[in-house]
Amino acid sequence: MINTLKSYKELSSTVADIVETQLKEQPLSKLILPTGSTPIGLYDELVNRELDWSLVIAYNLDEYIMNIDHPYSYHSFMRKNLFDRINIYPDRCHFPFRPTLSFEDKIAGSMGIDLCMLGIGSNGHIAFNEPGSSFKSRTRVVDLTEQTIKDNSRFFDSIDDVPKQAITMGLGTIMESKRIILMANGNHKLNILNVAMNGEVTEDVPASILQNHNNVEVYYCD
Ligand code: PGA
Repeated sequence: MINTLKSYKELSSTVADIVETQLKEQPLSKLILPTGSTPIGLYDELVNRELDWSLVIAYNLDEYIMNIDHPYSYHSFMRKNLFDRINIYPDRCHFPFRPTLSFEDKIAGSMGIDLCMLGIGSNGHIAFNEPGSSFKSRTRVVDLTEQTIKDNSRFFDSIDDVPKQAITMGLGTIMESKRIILMANGNHKLNILNVAMNGEVTEDVPASILQNHNNVEVYYCD
């Protein structure tokens, strides 16, 4: 189930191939997009391919509870790494918002997500669904774990600047996607990836829920 690729470049281009095929076959695609260090190469690759994003509807997995114009917000991340570099319409780029039920309605109104791309946290989280999250969870505000705050502090000036809360799509929301691609970059992710993909399906390891989905691919490079 885990496809091991030779390099980060190959990981990025393999997933970019999947996105390119998706957009060419279905210009009005609905995508779920991740942030973090892992998808940066994918986004660079997609920008270089000069695809037509004019009909695409994008949903991001999560956002910190913080000023969305802050340079370290996920809104800013996405603008910098992808949205400002392609011809997607800003009003088709959605991030989880409150009231969360309205965000869920927005996704439901687009009649199904065609392709969802995910990273995995070192504690097995997907989006900001931390260990213990219900497999039925929907979009909601969550407290980040110490581990996630520590992991993500590398993106901030200091660990004290990392927001303690976020708003995230739920595991139930993510699982309704028609196709899911999980990307993991680096040897430090291999153990949790194996636990999630080959171990017990348990809410203690949120990514293990993906074993219950019938259209998941996992791409890893060390
Ligand atoms: P990373 O984060 O891509 O920065 O490793 C992944 C995640 O926490 O989901």
